[in-house]
Amino acid sequence: MKNKRYILTGVFALAISSLIFVNSSLGKPPLSEEDLKLMNEELINLVKKGDELWHSEKLGTNGLSCANCHPDAANSNPHTFPKFQENVGKVATLREMINWCIQIPLEGKTLPEDSEEMKALEAYSIYMYRGFKLKPGDNQKAYPPVEVKEGAGYP
Ligand code: HEC
Repeated sequence: MKNKRYILTGVFALAISSLIFVNSSLGKPPLSEEDLKLMNEELINLVKKGDELWHSEKLGTNGLSCANCHPDAANSNPHTFPKFQENVGKVATLREMINWCIQIPLEGKTLPEDSEEMKALEAYSIYMYRGFKLKPGDNQKAYPPVEVKEGAGYP
């Protein structure tokens, strides 16, 4: 009986000490106010870069910018991606759709999907839609409309 108690205490002590070990080895000091401010600034800088690109004609060749058809990122619907986008003819990501608009309405050259410019355009679109619920697959233009139900799990 006594032995059993010793073993249990031992196992418990081991569990606690390994938890402490794991925590301290991951253990970075908590982020300071200053760190958080800097991190947010980095994000806002990317969003600003996206805002500039969104309003610039340089992505295309016909004098249009994204803002001509999507003022304030309107109808870019980042919260609905990925979804089957009829124009692309497959399940598309937001970045693929941005490239579709660069290529077709703007008559420009597509951006590498991992480029800073693409990240900035994506950041701007998503930032403008902050607070929107994620609704991957939502498509109000489809008939009948594809309306995504709330909640975890699928379909
Ligand atoms: C001349 C008008 C025009 C311009 C300029 C334009 N787009 Fe679009 N955009 C469209 C059209 C048309 C669609 C397709 C709408 C649909 O399929 O329902 C679209 C769709 C999109 C979508 C997907 C919306 C959805 O719900 O499927 C995104 C994202 C997008 N555009 C981003 C951009 C970006 C970024 C630019 C600039 C690089 C841009 N667009 C420039 C007309 C334009």
